[in-house]
Amino acid sequence: MTGLIRFGVSLEGSLLDKFDKLIRAKKYTNRSEAIRDLIRHELVKKEWQEGKEVAGAVIFIYNHHHRELLNKITDIQHDFQKLIISTQHIHLDHDNCLEIIAVKGNPLEAQKLADTLKAVKGVKHCTLSMSSTGKEIG
Ligand code: NI
Repeated sequence: MTGLIRFGVSLEGSLLDKFDKLIRAKKYTNRSEAIRDLIRHELVKKEWQEGKEVAGAVIFIYNHHHRELLNKITDIQHDFQKLIISTQHIHLDHDNCLEIIAVKGNPLEAQKLADTLKAVKGVKHCTLSMSSTGKEIG
């Protein structure tokens, strides 16, 4: 099905009130846009669960003075060379660095990369932002 389709939704008034409050707080201008985002969020979650090709980013913070840390981080990134499409390094201050690794490929590999980096001594925080290649979400 292509093009814009209108459909009716039935739900309890109290639930609709909560939904309207929620989407106002999130700065949506209408319900349709909020519902589209909820659907896409679930579709992206499914892509990750089902092992489809996904895209995302691993974001992590570390103290670059930590011994051997830079070598380890470089080795790990070479091990995941097929998954990684780009890496950005930002010197946050005298001690701390922020790295953003853009990934595209298998979700399990992306999770493994994030877990491996998180476990490196000296890495203070590491998150995986799970997104989509955009092909399957409308
Ligand atoms: Ni740095």
